[in-house]
Amino acid sequence: MYMSKIIGLGSYVPENVVTNDDLSKLMDTNDAWIQERTGIKERRHIKKGDGNSTSVMAVKASIIALERAGLQPDDIDMIVFATLSPDMYFPGGGVQVQELMGMRTIPALDVRNQCSGFVYGISVADQFIKTGMYKNVLVIGSENHSGGLDFTTRGRGVSVIFGDGAGAAVVSRSDSGTEGILSTHLHSEGKHKDELALQGPSTNYWVPQIIEENPQENIPYYPYMNGTFVFKHAVVRFAEVINEGLQANGLSVDDIDMLIPHQANLRISQFIQKKFRLPDHKVFNNIQKYGNTTAASIPIALTEAWEQGKIKEGDLVVLAVFGSGFTWRSVIIRW
Ligand code: UT7
Repeated sequence: MYMSKIIGLGSYVPENVVTNDDLSKLMDTNDAWIQERTGIKERRHIKKGDGNSTSVMAVKASIIALERAGLQPDDIDMIVFATLSPDMYFPGGGVQVQELMGMRTIPALDVRNQCSGFVYGISVADQFIKTGMYKNVLVIGSENHSGGLDFTTRGRGVSVIFGDGAGAAVVSRSDSGTEGILSTHLHSEGKHKDELALQGPSTNYWVPQIIEENPQENIPYYPYMNGTFVFKHAVVRFAEVINEGLQANGLSVDDIDMLIPHQANLRISQFIQKKFRLPDHKVFNNIQKYGNTTAASIPIALTEAWEQGKIKEGDLVVLAVFGSGFTWRSVIIRW
């Protein structure tokens, strides 16, 4: 059986920086609350007219990843695209990337697993490569949150957290029998699906109600999050799935060279770091600059960690994610 390996990484975030103070002009919030509860200082938002969209940012990140992998668009055998904020209801973002990058008639698979989307995508790529079916798979996570958030005080518990951006990885067949993706561990628990969700527009909420007419109602067109409930589950599942990945490979916490947790909340990352007694240089966080970019969070963080020389050949890299669904998962990589 083949192994797969990440051979190119790229990321893109819009230029427009939105600080906590900027948000406090739109809603009843403040820099101190946001930093204390989440660690976030600023995030990026697409600006009207800057040409960005979920698929456009995905392409910008993918071009960098392909270049670093030394590949052309024609070398890619499959696209796996993860997002919860697609440009349109259907078709998915994968075919849009395919068109924008002038790719062959390769398969374009869309993954809808929210924060876990990119790492679910990595697992899909890994399986197709392991079986020998494909050689090079482009895995993308891209999100345009700012296009669909409630920036009034009603939405503050959600809207201050999320940011826009994209990240991409080229996953390829590895010649080495020891380096690459060692294992992936996927989970979900649909009974908590409503705790972090966007109800509409959907077939249940197809005809838009006028939001301004219902200022006191829970509007199904904006994301809902039971933050404390999500937080409590996140810290448990993160730890579980990291342990599961380590055990599956006969490894221990001491073997970890770099943990890249999904950038949901700096407090969650710090809790996990403390629980596993990892030193600062073994955990990568950049939520301070970008907020929570959901499916784009892991590939943006992975790209930055790699760019900063924090991931070296032979390192044991652990990716861990928890998010809406609930879904959670880990990936264990020998870099
Ligand atoms: O990526 C997917 C996974 N997502 C996560 O893992 C997120 C997990 N949850 C969290 O990160 C945290 O629960 C939040 C950061 C979302 C919220 O922090 P919290 O400590 O759980 O706060 P809370 O929701 O319990 O709210 C505490 C207070 C409330 O006021 P009262 O009822 O105590 O008077 C909120 O109304 O803070 C208020 N509040 C705000 N105040 C200022 C909520 N949002 C804001 C805000 N600015 N933006």
